[in-house]
Amino acid sequence: MRDKAFASALEFVLVPSPWTGRSPNIARNDYGDVDVKGEKMSQPNTLDSMRAELSALGLEAGDTVMVHSSLGKIGWTVGGPVTVIRALLEITGPDGTLVMPAESPQVSDPSAWNDDRVKPEWHATIRKHLPVFDPLTTPTSMGAIPEAFRTFPGTLRSDHPLVSVCANGRYAVDITREHALEFSEGRGTPFEKLYVLNSKTLLLGVGFNRCTQLHYAESLVEARRTTRDRVPIMENGKKVWKDTLNMGADNGFHFPNVGAEFLTTGQVRSGLVGQAESKLLNTRQLVDFAVPCFTKILK
Ligand SMILES: CC(C)(COP(=O)(O)OP(=O)(O)OC[C@H]1O[C@@H](n2cnc3c(N)ncnc32)[C@H](O)[C@@H]1OP(=O)(O)O)[C@@H](O)C(=O)NCCC(=O)NCCS
Repeated sequence: MRDKAFASALEFVLVPSPWTGRSPNIARNDYGDVDVKGEKMSQPNTLDSMRAELSALGLEAGDTVMVHSSLGKIGWTVGGPVTVIRALLEITGPDGTLVMPAESPQVSDPSAWNDDRVKPEWHATIRKHLPVFDPLTTPTSMGAIPEAFRTFPGTLRSDHPLVSVCANGRYAVDITREHALEFSEGRGTPFEKLYVLNSKTLLLGVGFNRCTQLHYAESLVEARRTTRDRVPIMENGKKVWKDTLNMGADNGFHFPNVGAEFLTTGQVRSGLVGQAESKLLNTRQLVDFAVPCFTKILK
């Protein structure tokens, strides 16, 4: 499947901007302005340079890796998001699995959107007509790289209206097969599989505030923070609205501190990929470190 992916990925693909609603999960990168004009770069990033820098960071053949990314922070890249995806797939190879978040916060009740373009008097119409989540067509707001990745040949997507995950490679079926509607980052979800599979987590130009695996760690703690979401789903061939219990947003409150503490353990590889400050770590080590942290912080 992957060979086909590479063959079809040779052309530059102009990916539309991600959905720009105002969910706390999709704020602009909080690590400064993007350098899309490449003013600080002597050469643009290429497939070769990306491959070399990702390998230097410690990404290896056979890795299962969840990637959170900012293309803008990587800097101007020949071929855009597709080049980044190709570099990741080429390194991890046929025994590896590339995983990305494919969240779709727009598949929810409009009263939760906090979007001033949407008038309150429209809510009833929106509720009636909002399409349910469709793994093939629902866009993700997790950035240009995940948005390109979700339609790569061979990419599978888990079936969750809000917090789906895309995976391509050896464990793609295992990772995307089961996704609990409630506590969508906890047990019975791809995030548990990523823990079990001893995967890596790669932060490409983003911080620990974007590391969904920390929601998984928090979900294992008794005093976890929760929120209620309202989502449209299909039941017996009919669209129904369901209330679900989920992990609450962190909004950069605890996650950056837990990440900073984890950095001091020396278990994180840091380096530049393009212009992006990036971090590669073992997911299980992070979760095992974070669970006692959350137990202490949230008691
Ligand atoms: C929100 C977020 C995606 C924004 O990052 P970003 O770099 O501004 O946006 P994208 O990754 O979508 O990249 C698009 C940007 O790439 C830049 N770009 C365009 N072509 C490019 C190219 N060929 N090479 C490099 N950059 C290019 C543009 O600046 C574009 O921004 P625009 O849409 O304003 O024009 C990022 O900060 C983030 O949070 N990522 C992680 C998301 C995540 O995994 N969340 C998990 C749950 S919390």
